[in-house]
Amino acid sequence: MLWGGAFEAPTDEQVRRLNDSIGYDRRMYAEDIAGSIAYARAISTAGVITLQEAEQIVAGLERVLNEFERGEFQLQPADEDIHTAVERRLTEIVGAVGGKLHTGRSRNDQVATDWRLWTMHAIDQIVGQVLLLQRAILSQSEAHFETLMPGYTHLQPAQPVTAAHWLLSYFWMLVRDVERLDDARRRTAECPLGSGALAGTPFAIDRVALAQALGFVAPTRNSLDGVSDRDFVAEALFVLSLIGIHLSRLAEDIVIFSNPAFGFIRLDDRYSTGSSLMPQKRNADPMELARGKAGRLIGNLTGLLTVLKGLPTSYNKDLQEDKESLLDSVDTLMGLLPVVTAVVHTLKLNPERMQQALDESMLATDLADYLVKRGMPFREAHGVSGRVVRRAGELGVGLSRVPLEDLQALSPLFDADVATIFDFAASAARRKALGGTAPEAVQRQWADARQWIQSRGG
Ligand code: ARG
Repeated sequence: MLWGGAFEAPTDEQVRRLNDSIGYDRRMYAEDIAGSIAYARAISTAGVITLQEAEQIVAGLERVLNEFERGEFQLQPADEDIHTAVERRLTEIVGAVGGKLHTGRSRNDQVATDWRLWTMHAIDQIVGQVLLLQRAILSQSEAHFETLMPGYTHLQPAQPVTAAHWLLSYFWMLVRDVERLDDARRRTAECPLGSGALAGTPFAIDRVALAQALGFVAPTRNSLDGVSDRDFVAEALFVLSLIGIHLSRLAEDIVIFSNPAFGFIRLDDRYSTGSSLMPQKRNADPMELARGKAGRLIGNLTGLLTVLKGLPTSYNKDLQEDKESLLDSVDTLMGLLPVVTAVVHTLKLNPERMQQALDESMLATDLADYLVKRGMPFREAHGVSGRVVRRAGELGVGLSRVPLEDLQALSPLFDADVATIFDFAASAARRKALGGTAPEAVQRQWADARQWIQSRGG
């Protein structure tokens, strides 16, 4: 035990169980040991312990690390958290000198340091997985620059788009997510070690060097804030939630588009599931889970924000509640991202079904644009085109079958060349300004996307 000198009675057993965090914070054993090794060197440079003592402590800590890595570390009932467990074992190995390691340090600056290191590493892992998903989107979309499909707003047929354009829309959501992770990581990379329990350290520790030795960018600037700041956890949880939300939107598209009523895509056998009762079923279970997991990611974020709200200054034990939410969100996404990536990689698009779903009514805007090109104000052209849609409905035909005389009765600007409007590919091809759905614009977009990935070393 790391404390207890002033106590007469041992902690109540149920309180001990409530208090223990070793069950989950042992996952940051590597960060805890790295922090201690750097700290031992820092206090030896500061003249608090001798170089020889520091070497003994470092060698002992390396042995503890080894035991963890081999799965040989033996937990004891009094190991309430990872910091206690490592120091207890260190002292068993190196003897009383192990007790010098904690000089000027508190578990408050220690845990904040460990957890930041763990979070930085987790962010790197998530970024790596998101980049793989983006690669899958790139490779799937490369074959579909020309493939036409209905584009929707309000989930109602709106205008023809190209399938690559639809897929790439998710690429850019993930670009923003990666950039948010970069940004969150930058603020996470500040080192609280050397803040002590709350007031700072009385020893001449070079905190800049200590921060750098651990891979941080800089030390934190205020010890009270240093031990209690968990903004980095909240930011990570927010970005992970937003990634979950983006995945859930992609998942919902896949659920809808793989429904036989649409038939736009077919999920690979490995990534769809059957029904125990209805032999014909192909359920997009992994995608429904992607949709559902967003709920728990958001729950984790909400939980932490609620823990932080109204905490008094400096460290409070409530802060121990910052672990399980982030562990769960990271585990959730690390489980989900590879599956979504594989689903995207193996999706089979069905261009015929997409083409069949195109309806001439989706060209009503193009029809209005035709009149605009002939000088009619758009607002008026919108009205005329709407009346053409109504006339087509009365006649029970598509827009292209409304007789020219009927069109001309609605506006004298209609001419025989209006027939050229009723072409879905031409409609898409006209939208070639930057960011539009025209195959040539989408090819440029795709090249920009690939350049972005390459700039990330992907
Ligand atoms: N397990 C604790 C946590 O995660 C470590 C810090 C404990 N500090 C204390 N003053 N009791 O927050």
